[in-house]
Amino acid sequence: NRTRHYNVVSIPADGIGPEVVSAAIEVIQKLAQVSKSFTIEFEHILWGTAYYKEHGRYVDENVLEVLRRYDAILFGSVGAPDVPDHISLWGLLLAIRGPLQLYANVRPVRTFPGTVSRLRDTKSGAPEIDWLVVRENTEGEYSGHGGRSHRGQKWEVATEVAIFTYVGIERIMRFAFSAAQARPKKLLTVVTKSNSMRNGMVLWDEVALEVSRDFPDVKWDKMLVDAMTVRMVNFPGSLDTIVGTNLHMDILSDLAAALAGSLGIAPSSNLDPTGKNPSLFEPVHGSAFDITGKGVANPVATIWSAAEMLGWLGEAEAKDTLMKAIENVCTAGVLTADLGGTANTKEVTRAICEELEKLG
Ligand code: NAI
Ligand code: MG
Repeated sequence: NRTRHYNVVSIPADGIGPEVVSAAIEVIQKLAQVSKSFTIEFEHILWGTAYYKEHGRYVDENVLEVLRRYDAILFGSVGAPDVPDHISLWGLLLAIRGPLQLYANVRPVRTFPGTVSRLRDTKSGAPEIDWLVVRENTEGEYSGHGGRSHRGQKWEVATEVAIFTYVGIERIMRFAFSAAQARPKKLLTVVTKSNSMRNGMVLWDEVALEVSRDFPDVKWDKMLVDAMTVRMVNFPGSLDTIVGTNLHMDILSDLAAALAGSLGIAPSSNLDPTGKNPSLFEPVHGSAFDITGKGVANPVATIWSAAEMLGWLGEAEAKDTLMKAIENVCTAGVLTADLGGTANTKEVTRAICEELEKLG
């Protein structure tokens, strides 16, 4: 059994990013040590707001060339109180997602053992949330298409044009159907707003129907995004894999994370399913200014993201071991404040490392 080696670039960036990324690296190195099936090296790149203040841009000019040298990217979060969010987000994260064609943003949402779903005591029984949210990650409402004219006048105009291409929809739909097919329920819900948005969203519906014919064993249905929020809250057990546009899934995945327990555990993968480019793994949450530097951020979202990264790289067994360790630590009640506990970042990280020693 030959040992595999991976080179990963980590971009901790802003806010709590550095705190949670270093927690994840510590855990992954412990996992490599106990599993003995792989070795992994992390190289930090200090792109982010401090870099921006010094160089006038968030990333190096040859950003894509630099990133393509690595097997994967582990990302923290970008955004600072004194820089407008559209500058920081487009400067760093969106300068990577689109150009590297990381078109599938995958967000598993699960209520962990030992943690409490917000829906636990609704009338619909005792639903356990276990969803896979798939977000189109390169076009739609976040294409950056549009502009502003007559600035500063009362008749100023701003447009934000949603771009939907057949190619873009077909590839995310195909990805979502196969993701649904790989899960036990084989159930996919396609989210649109094709009643009031009569062009792009109707194309989504048409492509969904077309692609569905190649997946006869997947049950699928369609939801309008507003009605979807109600279904998520009232009938969480009726959902499994969910696919939708960049904007819709940005919003619904935050809701999903909060319903399942906390934004502090929500992971995401930004995948190039063609494998041509390195994929990027990051927590769903942002810089969390209110807790930055206090050492209390929940590291689980980033650790889980790193577990997804290992799975993507082909280390399925190591990923399962890590997920088991996280679950055991949650069950044991070692939880940060966002999950109702009293542990800090270091304590949760240490507990997961100790659990890995036991499992390994
Ligand atoms: P946020 O996700 O940073 O924080 C929202 C709330 O959740 C805060 O109360 C925060 O303390 C809490 N929270 C987030 N992560 C947590 C964790 N790991 N453990 C415990 N509590 C946690 O969202 P917000 O406040 O809207 O944005 C702050 C900054 O982050 C902005 O500049 C925004 O643009 C940026 N941002 C960046 C993202 C990214 O890099 N992917 C995603 C979302 C926001
Ligand atoms: Mg978001």
